[in-house]
Amino acid sequence: MSNLMQAQNLSGKTALITGASKGLGKAMAQALSAAGATTALVSRDAAKLSDVHAEICGAGGKAEVFVADVSSEAQVDQLEKEVSARLGKVQILINNAGINVRRNLIDFTLEEWQSVINTNLTSVFLMSRRFVPHMRGTGYGRILCMTSIMSHVSLPQRSAYSASKAAVLGLIRALALELAAEGITVNGISPGPFATEMNMAIVNNPELNTQFVANIPVGRWGKVEDIGSLAGFLCSDAAAFITGTDILIDGGWTAR
Ligand SMILES: NC(=O)c1ccc[n+]([C@@H]2O[C@H](COP(=O)([O-])OP(=O)(O)OC[C@H]3O[C@@H](n4cnc5c(N)ncnc54)[C@H](OP(=O)(O)O)[C@@H]3O)[C@@H](O)[C@H]2O)c1
Repeated sequence: MSNLMQAQNLSGKTALITGASKGLGKAMAQALSAAGATTALVSRDAAKLSDVHAEICGAGGKAEVFVADVSSEAQVDQLEKEVSARLGKVQILINNAGINVRRNLIDFTLEEWQSVINTNLTSVFLMSRRFVPHMRGTGYGRILCMTSIMSHVSLPQRSAYSASKAAVLGLIRALALELAAEGITVNGISPGPFATEMNMAIVNNPELNTQFVANIPVGRWGKVEDIGSLAGFLCSDAAAFITGTDILIDGGWTAR
């Protein structure tokens, strides 16, 4: 094995991925599994997680399914107990679960606002608080959070989403500084547009889709596998000096 391949080998590591039932979370679970990690697949949907589990195991990987709502303190606490009992300590935490409600600010209900903030931001606090102790004292740990181009720029009808994702960037920086001396890195991945279920309202509207794609400098939606490769690299020993930052993977969206 070359030094580069060795540095990116995650054998012996356990990676927990929230929102692993589909989209980018599923792609990251598959990529980390292919790199040798055992994966803990978390979401609220047991049936979808079971399909992802079958795909990973069918490809020769190791995975376990855990059903939890990561915006609930009680469920995150219970999740930590179950993961510890079935898999032991987690070395890699990927805070990926997220939702978007697209609406003008004045039309938001408080419940809609809170559901976006709780799912996209508070879950990162709840999960990191419970799983950082797994990594402490070992000299290695990786926390990745799915931020967004909407952490850096915005669009109309993205107030709750942009606010939550920009706040995650602040959390990443503070937590990275708290953990930097312990070999635990904390980083964000800011995807541009990827054609996952979250964006089907745009993809399925031909006129809107054409307009939207015309605004992506590379002229197409992103490929989910590219997120998997980046996550694999950031979790590896090769990325040990990268912490407290955010990597944009956006087809040039924010370069304008
Ligand atoms: N797609 C994009 O273009 C894009 C761009 C920038 C950032 N992102 C971010 O990347 C992440 C993944 O996005 P995606 O496009 O893959 O979205 P997606 O296809 O809609 O998947 C979202 C995932 O989050 C899970 N989830 C949502 N609420 C949850 C909760 N309360 N507890 C546990 N799991 C929950 C869902 O699982 P269940 O429904 O099974 O519970 C699902 O697995 C999100 O944080 C998103 O904001 C995406």
